[in-house]
Amino acid sequence: MPHCCRPTAFAAQLDVLAAAAPAIETLIDRHVGSRRDWLPGELVEFGDDPQLVELRLLRDRARGLAPAIKVSVMLNLLTEEGLPHFHRIISEHVGSQAIWQRWTRLWTAEEDRHGNVMRDYARDAALFEPGALDRLQFDFLDAGFDPEWAGSPYRLLAYTSLQERATQVSHANTARLAAAQEPLLQKVLARLAGDEARHCAFYRDAFGLALAADPDAALLELASVAPKLSMPGSTIAGFQMMAEVERQAGVFGPRQYAALVAESLAYWGIGRVEPHGSEARCARDALMALPGRLEVLADRLDHRRHLKTFEFDFLRHRLAAMAALA
Ligand SMILES: [Fe+2]
Ligand SMILES: [Fe+2]
Repeated sequence: MPHCCRPTAFAAQLDVLAAAAPAIETLIDRHVGSRRDWLPGELVEFGDDPQLVELRLLRDRARGLAPAIKVSVMLNLLTEEGLPHFHRIISEHVGSQAIWQRWTRLWTAEEDRHGNVMRDYARDAALFEPGALDRLQFDFLDAGFDPEWAGSPYRLLAYTSLQERATQVSHANTARLAAAQEPLLQKVLARLAGDEARHCAFYRDAFGLALAADPDAALLELASVAPKLSMPGSTIAGFQMMAEVERQAGVFGPRQYAALVAESLAYWGIGRVEPHGSEARCARDALMALPGRLEVLADRLDHRRHLKTFEFDFLRHRLAAMAALA
């Protein structure tokens, strides 16, 4: 059990999820029926190329990628490689139930291939300074990840619903920016975005079950996690600067987050939920106002002085210009 939860609330939420086990199983079966079975070596593999012609062509193309795209790949790759943190957190919250063990095993196997294929790609494309990715990954895992939102199974489901969509958007936008210069990177990231969409569909409907059975508690937990989605890579060295590059490049930031929050609230029908208590009603109203608040934040950031250049040790020429994407 996570350290910061109230034991009674934790147990009550687990009881609700236990009662929903048949419906959870249906969601897992739906996922299994729609999932795409693929392996990293099918996408990134140059083993039968003794002259390394394809590999050289890949490196030529990758060299021409805008630095902001490389930063997005690094941040999204490190986020994927944080899987040991996320596996632990999910297991701590819902791992006591057999049905969730089934889900967590499958989900972990699917997520693991995301980090693997991005890592294979980054190595073969010689995308970063040698060793830089290894160091950042080691330090990220060593730093730990204990998000403020931890402590409630409902909050976990709310968080993962939003986070999976955020990851999907981030991969899809990076893929779009990379497409003209580097079709293999586009293909890899588009494959990942498809997986994230299916993960989001599962978590969103699992949270919907909690919302239907226990609306007051579910609304309060959603309202505690949605306003400030602490991204899973926030303990990565240089995270803030990488996130700022992603925001300015249009990969992911408050603007994209506002859109996915609005979409999620509409999906769950939050505006129509009638909770019993006044606290939960306030939470519902605050949630409904959240997309507008996030848009205001996005506008404010857009009018702020923009980063012209940025510098990362993992980029081969360290100092890079933001304008390269324009
Ligand atoms: Fe992933
Ligand atoms: Fe995912």
